[in-house]
Amino acid sequence: MEQDVLPLQPTPAAVPWLWKWDELYQLAAMAGKLIELEDGGDRRALGLSNPGLNGKPYATETLWMALQWLNGKEIAPPHRHIAQASRFIIQSEGSYSTVEGNRIFLERGDFVLNPPLLWHDHGSINNNHAIWLDALDIPVTNYLNANFFESHYLDKQKVTKKINASVLKYGNGNYRPLWEDPINEYPPVSVYKWKETLKALNGLKEADEACPYDDLALEYVNSFNGNSSMKTFGASIQLIRPKIHTKAHRHVSSNVYYIFEGSGYSVIDGVRFNWSEGDFLVIPTWAYHEHCNTSESTDAILFSVSDRPLMQAMDKYRQEPLKENDGHQIVHSVFTGNL
Ligand SMILES: [Fe+2]
Ligand SMILES: [Fe+2]
Repeated sequence: MEQDVLPLQPTPAAVPWLWKWDELYQLAAMAGKLIELEDGGDRRALGLSNPGLNGKPYATETLWMALQWLNGKEIAPPHRHIAQASRFIIQSEGSYSTVEGNRIFLERGDFVLNPPLLWHDHGSINNNHAIWLDALDIPVTNYLNANFFESHYLDKQKVTKKINASVLKYGNGNYRPLWEDPINEYPPVSVYKWKETLKALNGLKEADEACPYDDLALEYVNSFNGNSSMKTFGASIQLIRPKIHTKAHRHVSSNVYYIFEGSGYSVIDGVRFNWSEGDFLVIPTWAYHEHCNTSESTDAILFSVSDRPLMQAMDKYRQEPLKENDGHQIVHSVFTGNL
């Protein structure tokens, strides 16, 4: 069939989906008790497996997303891979990541980068467990048959820089040490600290401008060249003000959301997905979507990962607003967790 080869528009197998926090937290905590790190291949990670992808542990056709659990006093040993990786920290008190000798301590809301082939290990200096959301381009890397993975010969890397050095040196974003050239590859800062992100969101709130589809949204970028933080995927933080209901649009890029704070709903292709703090939501490519913060007084803050940088690099990206019904979809059902 001609349309199997040249479909009229994208036909994603991934479906819109919502994972509830309580259920995932219980599973992750249980894995923390039952599974030693050695059994799980260096990391204890719960992959968000999209029910439309025939059992593959991928959230969308291009994104691997997983909830990682690290017990107190534990060390997830150093390894490196060609897959581009990042972490958004959900809970952490006293845990760290060491990326290529640069150790950074992690706090809730931090966004951590792991460019390809950099050695990385994680650990905790006290009895507190940590949880974060991993995002990697594993599906793309595997599709292209381009994967490389290597374990380090040591149990943990030697720390070669001052603790939190990359944040101290590059964390402000507007200044480059005069003795260094611009860095055009990956951002030199290995973590975007939550307190800086919140400051940026609050600044945007004061600026009196907003996007009709996302309300107040900021992408994490390489401040030296303005590009997305990674090449195959990017990440954003979005604040939806109380009572704001955005208009619907669709684009050739898939998104995975983590609800950092607040509650509300998204409508995806006519289905309403009610979300609250801690939940994860998938919007497949080319699906119409709009968001609503149902609170009268509290902001909703959403972290998200998108494959848009990859689509744009390949000249595949396009975006269109919903023209009918003043830009709002007609809701025909509410998501219940059944396919
Ligand atoms: Fe890794
Ligand atoms: Fe969107």
